Amino acid sequence: MCGIFAIVNDKTHRAAQTTLEGLKKLEYRGYDSWGVAVVTEKGASVAIEKHVGKIGGATTGLPNGTIAIGHTRWATHGGVTDQNAHPHLDCTGRFVVIHNGIVENYQELKQNLIKKHHVFHSETDTEVIAHSIEDAVKNKPTVQAVLEVFSQLAGSNAIVVLDAKTKTIVACRNGSPLVAGIGDESFFLASDVPAFLRYTSTVHFLSDGEAVVLSNQGIKLFDIRTIKTKPMSTQTLDWKLEDAEKGGYPHFMIKEIMEQVRTVPKTAQVNNDVISAVAKQIQKGNRVVLTACGTASYCALAAKYFFADIGLEVQSYGAYEFAPFAKFSDKKTVLFAISQSGETADTLIATKKAKQNGAYIVAVVNARGSTLERLSDAVIPVGAGPEIAVVSTKAFTSQLSTLYLVSQAVTGTLPKAASEITTLGRVLETWLTDTLCEKIIKLAKDLVDHTDMYVIGKHTGYPAGLEFALKIKETSYIHAEPFAAGELKHGVITLIQKGTPCFVIATQENSKLELLSSAAELKARGGKIIGVAPFPSAEFDVHVPIPDAGPLTIIPAVIVGQLLGYYLGIGRGTDPDKPRNLAKSVTVK
Ligand code: AGP
Repeated sequence: MCGIFAIVNDKTHRAAQTTLEGLKKLEYRGYDSWGVAVVTEKGASVAIEKHVGKIGGATTGLPNGTIAIGHTRWATHGGVTDQNAHPHLDCTGRFVVIHNGIVENYQELKQNLIKKHHVFHSETDTEVIAHSIEDAVKNKPTVQAVLEVFSQLAGSNAIVVLDAKTKTIVACRNGSPLVAGIGDESFFLASDVPAFLRYTSTVHFLSDGEAVVLSNQGIKLFDIRTIKTKPMSTQTLDWKLEDAEKGGYPHFMIKEIMEQVRTVPKTAQVNNDVISAVAKQIQKGNRVVLTACGTASYCALAAKYFFADIGLEVQSYGAYEFAPFAKFSDKKTVLFAISQSGETADTLIATKKAKQNGAYIVAVVNARGSTLERLSDAVIPVGAGPEIAVVSTKAFTSQLSTLYLVSQAVTGTLPKAASEITTLGRVLETWLTDTLCEKIIKLAKDLVDHTDMYVIGKHTGYPAGLEFALKIKETSYIHAEPFAAGELKHGVITLIQKGTPCFVIATQENSKLELLSSAAELKARGGKIIGVAPFPSAEFDVHVPIPDAGPLTIIPAVIVGQLLGYYLGIGRGTDPDKPRNLAKSVTVK
């Protein structure tokens, strides 16, 4: 996954600097290297600057100009080097290309171009796009050349091509996200809205098979296959600039954790109509399947318990393991695809398989305008606002609340469920505070040097434990192993030694005794028991009190894991917003 930004008609005449600032809002999408290209005002040549490493607080000394493009790279083809950083040029230096995705047939294209004496300077798949356009434009206009070349590319891709000669930008989408921003006089392109949110919130999310052409004259929408213009619909998002800023917090992750005081209760005020409509699909006796990846998959697993508690057995699958079971999805299936980004490759593949079999698709998403939305029969936008940190927090709890609402809507108790979530919001106001953070900071300091930790839970405490452990792993790189409390005796308990930190996640009153007996087993083997529970216990060496929110107690339990992961990461010197080896959305298989 990479970050793309482009601007035309920048009235500040500092398009390169505008682009660099936009890229900084996209750094979570890829931070191996970055690059900016601008068409200079003197002589209309292209000036480029590109570097390995995170953008961080970088500045650029590129010359003035009103049209520029930029890219943050997540390396797939070609190592992390300056040469492989985007943008990439054709032989003449007229066409400048940035790209998100993988050109699966680039080797074949590259060999043909080399036979035509094109000279390559990088190991990337992207560079073949620039030379292919140089080749194609010899006998046709730029827009046609770009769209025809794009149609030859195999795989999921979004490309942005700057033509220095005509001072136009042509962008195409097939599989990787691209959104156009319509300003008063300037026009923008980006992989995600936060990049240009300070200038405009009027957007057009490109669909697969669409292209846009930006110039000083404005923006036009094209159908890539027919190479004809088409009417462009726009929408104005209710996102505010501060949603995409850190707002005084040191990291987006802690900001987004603290925002849950607002984002969790918000789920009770939105989506009632679509939730009721989806519940009706379930009430018809359809089979319910949930699928997602990573953190979102733990949301799916937790929803399995919500549905079980209303007497409905549902299936949940990690989307990466959905294929063997896809055949069971049919026109009597309601498939919930849960995804913060709506662009996760495995989730999209699973959804397409179920859709092919006739399943009714429900997208439970946070980011807007995604591929997943387009695939779906119903869309439930959880409305947590831009989630910039790579590590998902507020989106998870908003998806969880939303699925709880759906489960209760099936039994006709949606209003009661909504009021439970509203009440939880009020409780979070007095619980999710600096006092809690100070308690977690102290716990993190006590645990930061441990290399292994274990997390047990029962009922919704089990998916809570999965997510709790993932937050620790992906933010602090400490090995944290989650498992169902009842699993202890079946092997895992051999790992517990004196002083091993063991978290006991209590989210459900009627499994309390069984959970505490598991805690006693861990304690008997020397484990240091840290109870994350609404109740104290002699079994706990440390108790982190959480509010008793009934079936929603999983939410405060997971928030403790989010905070612990964050502060352990700080203690270990990681960058919680951009953990090593991770991308915000895994848009390739
Ligand atoms: C988030 O903390 C994780 N890094 C990751 O597992 C993420 O939840 C997963 O990749 C799914 O992303 P999505 O919700 O955008 O589909």
